Order: sequence, then C-alpha cells, then structure tokens
Amino acid sequence: MLLLLQFFVLLLAFISQEYESIAQYVPPYTTMVSPVHKHIDVATPLYSVQIDTLWEITRITPANFLIDIDAPFIWHDCIQQWNKRPVSCPMYRRCIFPVSCEDLQCTKVRSYYSYKNPSCPPETNSSRLPGLGSCSCPVNVMNPLTKSCTQALLNYDDLIVNTTNGRNPFNAFPFSTLNAACAPSSAFKYFPANVTGVMALSLSPYAFQTFFKQAAKKILALCLPSSRNTSAPGVLFYGDGPYYFHPHSNVDITSFLSYTPLLERLDSFGYFIRVNAIVIKQRSIEIPTKATTKLSTTKAYTTLRTDIYNRVVRRFSKVTKRIPLAKPVTPFKLCFRTFVNGTRVGLKVPDISFSLQDGKKWIVSTANSMKQITKYVACLAFVDGGATSEHGIEIGTFQFEDNFVVFDLEKSTFGFSSSLLKKQTSCANFNFTSIKRWY
Ligand SMILES: *[C@@H]1O[C@H](CO)[C@@H](O)[C@H](O)[C@H]1NC(C)=O
Ligand SMILES: *[C@@H]1O[C@H](CO)[C@@H](O)[C@H](O)[C@H]1NC(C)=O
Ligand SMILES: *[C@@H]1O[C@H](CO)[C@@H](O)[C@H](O)[C@H]1NC(C)=O
Ligand SMILES: *[C@@H]1O[C@H](CO)[C@@H](O)[C@H](O)[C@H]1NC(C)=O
Ligand SMILES: *[C@@H]1O[C@H](CO)[C@@H](O)[C@H](O)[C@H]1NC(C)=O
Ligand SMILES: *[C@@H]1O[C@H](CO)[C@@H](O)[C@H](O)[C@H]1NC(C)=O
Repeated sequence: MLLLLQFFVLLLAFISQEYESIAQYVPPYTTMVSPVHKHIDVATPLYSVQIDTLWEITRITPANFLIDIDAPFIWHDCIQQWNKRPVSCPMYRRCIFPVSCEDLQCTKVRSYYSYKNPSCPPETNSSRLPGLGSCSCPVNVMNPLTKSCTQALLNYDDLIVNTTNGRNPFNAFPFSTLNAACAPSSAFKYFPANVTGVMALSLSPYAFQTFFKQAAKKILALCLPSSRNTSAPGVLFYGDGPYYFHPHSNVDITSFLSYTPLLERLDSFGYFIRVNAIVIKQRSIEIPTKATTKLSTTKAYTTLRTDIYNRVVRRFSKVTKRIPLAKPVTPFKLCFRTFVNGTRVGLKVPDISFSLQDGKKWIVSTANSMKQITKYVACLAFVDGGATSEHGIEIGTFQFEDNFVVFDLEKSTFGFSSSLLKKQTSCANFNFTSIKRWY
C-alpha cells in the first residue's frame, strides 16, 4: 500500500511538472470551440464532436465523440493503466489512469450521476486490475443507440479543446484532469466508424462543460451541419461568445436568437422546453399541458406522440394538397413526389412552427421539415412515436441542422435561431482556420 502511495505521489508530481509550463499561460479568450461532424454510415445520421485526447502524457490525438445531451458523464474506447508511461499500451489504443474505488469521485459518480436505466445490472463495487493490485471504479455506461448497458471503468482523463475569439480557433487549451470512463470497444455497437466515445453535454455535474473552470460562462452553443463534408464541419462552443459565421463577419450570431426557459426534470440530465402548440399555416395544434418536450441529439427526427402526430399530419396534408403524394418510406408516413412526368416539382410547403412560452416561435422551414429520400421522393421528417411515448414531443437532429442553438446553463434558457439558411449562412460557416499562439 505504501509503495503504491509513493508511486502515486511521484506520478502526480511528474504530471504537474509536465503541466507547469502550460499552466503559466493564461488564454486570452474564455470561449472554447470544437468541430462537429455529421456521420451517415449508420442507420440514421449521427453527429460527433472532435476533441484532442492526451494519453501517455505526451501524445495528443484527435478523437470523435458522439454528441449526447443526455449522458451523465463522458466515456470512450480506452484501456486503464496505472502506469502512465506504459510500454504495454497496445498500439493505437488509449491508455488512461484509473480512479480508485476508494476515491470520492467513484462514490459520487456511481451513486448520484450514473446511467439510470432498469436494464443496467448493479455495478460491482470494485475491480482489480492486473499489475498493481489496486481496485478501480466500475460504472455503467449505456449505448444511446441500443440502450444496452456495459460496465466501464472510471478514470482521470485529459481532453483538450481550442480557445476562440469567436472568429477563429486558437491553439490547444489544455485543462486539468476530468473524470471519464473507459469502455471496451464492444460498448460502441452501431456507432459510426471513427466515433470512439460519448460526449456528455447534459445538466449532469460530470458533463464536459463543467470541467472548464476557465470558461467565463456555462453556456453551450451547438450548430449541427447538414453536410457530412469534413472540411466544412459544424461547431460547438463552450462559453458566452461572441460567435461569428461567414459571411456575417461583424454580426454576432446571438443577435439572431430567441430564448425560452429550459425546464429541468428530476429524473433526467436532459433538456426540456415547453411547446404550447405546433402551428401550420395559422392553424394551431394545441399540445396538452402534460405532454413534455425533450431535446435530443441522438434521435434523427422529431418524434411526436400518436395523437399529436396524427393532427400534425392531417393539417400538413391539407395545406399541401397540390403536391402529388408518393408511397410512404419508413419511418415516415407522409411523402411527396418531387418529380412528376420528368419535371421537378417545387416543394412549396408551409413552415411548421413550435409556439413556445411568451409567444416565441421556433420556425421549422422546408430544409428542416422535408427530408429528401431520393431524387424523386421527399417526406415530412416527423415520426410517430406511438400512443404511449414517454414524451409528447422529442425534437430530433434533422430539425436542429443549420439552426444555431444555445443551452445557457447560467440563466437556464434555451436560445434558437431557426434556420440560418434564411440568414444566408449555415452551421458550416465558422472559420476553422487556426491562428497559432505560442505558450
Ligand atoms: C478519424 O477522426 C479523426 C478525428 O476527427 C481524424 O483526424 C481522422 O482523419 C479520421 N479518420 C478517418 C479514417 O476518417
Ligand atoms: C457495494 O457497496 C455498498 C456499500 O458498501 C453495498 O451496500 C453494496 O451491497 C455493494 N454492492 C455489491 C454489488 O457488492
Ligand atoms: C486545435 O488547434 C490546432 C492548431 O492550433 C489544430 O491542429 C488542432 O486540430 C485543433 N484541435 C481540435 C480538436 O480541433
Ligand atoms: C467541402 O467543403 C470545402 C470547404 O468549404 C469545399 O471547398 C468543398 O467543395 C466541399 N466539398 C463538397 C463535396 O461539398
Ligand atoms: C403526367 O402525364 C400524364 C400523361 O401525359 C397525364 O395524364 C398526367 O396528368 C400528368 N401528370 C401531371 C401531374 O402533370
Ligand atoms: C478565415 O480566417 C483566416 C485567418 O484569419 C483568414 O485569412 C481567412 O480569410 C478567413 N476565411 C474566410 C472565408 O473568412
């Protein structure tokens, strides 16, 4: 035990020494930025954030983490190792320092901030790692796509993001240790290729943004790209901006935003808002007060409980009568022909708006309401969630694309721009050309 302790102290001293030169550098900006990629090599599109990971102390490599605004903590594909300078770390794997079962973090994460799902088996209390014989800290992780549980091990991790002045990224901004879990590769079933982790951006005290001590404000701003072009990614900001998108070089994108309160729920780390009605061409479809509206970054299309879904589809059919119908394509029920007799039919459909508190309106225009399936068919991109779905409305990622949204955790508000395309810009218009600064 004493030997182990000595080893620890030595190791910590070594780590802090490594960081010392970096720690003296005070970044001039308090907002951070990461590129966001769209992945379409999966059943429905998914989005990841690109983060630099530090492993074996000195090696920095980028990795893609699935964006999950529900997850209680971060987890990724890695291996735990007590020795930070391992000769034994397999090639192309990340080897990371574990949290001990005796550490306070272990109890906290396990008892308060774990994945709460009845399908998860109880965690075993500790797990012995080969080598030093100390115990590590098992935690459950849940694959957001399959909802299946896997036991992972909590660790002390180092993730690095760049700062920004709102116009360009600056060089890497290191920050001290955070807690994330190492999961085996098998926990990432149905993930897109090259996505090797889950990024928690929820209300949990172990979500990513909670570790940015230097960020002036606890604000997340997310802009999902509609294209999978990796040279033109979308963007995630941590901090209060400003944020500038080409070609509006002098317009802070926050000037396009409307805000509505974020509602908290005791049984979830996710984000909820209140939708009073869905409005289509001046006709309001009222949403029952008890029907909750959840925001999701892992569901591709907005899901409506059957009673709401049917009323929306009925109304939408009525106002699009002139467009010839096509055979429905699962999971959609209302599809249109976009080519008739060899000529392209314009998809002139009315906006769908979510009417929120205080008369605010989140406008879902054609780019976010109609999903082009083939050259010949486009469908209303809303899905029937079933008669007993947990939430009345679950807003999915297709409706978020090219919309700039802000989770302001200081004021507990949700900001939204509606389609940036209407403002002649898009989520791919942040200038990722780095400006180098030396420590
Ligand atoms: C995988 O993702 C990383 C980080 O975004 C990137 O640097 C790398 O080029 C990607 N590899 C492939 C094969 O797409
Ligand atoms: C883990 O430890 C707690 C507290 O000591 C105990 O109540 C619980 O039964 C243990 N669980 C298992 C699976 O051993
Ligand atoms: C951070 O900026 C550097 C250039 O300064 C760049 O090489 C690196 O890829 C950026 N990291 C991420 C995760 O975007
Ligand atoms: C991807 O984005 C880059 C940078 O904006 C652009 O030059 C290129 O044409 C795009 N490629 C495709 C296939 O759209
Ligand atoms: C397509 O062509 C057929 C035969 O020429 C015609 O009967 C039909 O009305 C046309 N449909 C539309 C929607 O124009
Ligand atoms: C992106 O930023 C770089 C560095 O400031 C600048 O040289 C370039 O012109 C910018 N590109 C656009 C499209 O604004």
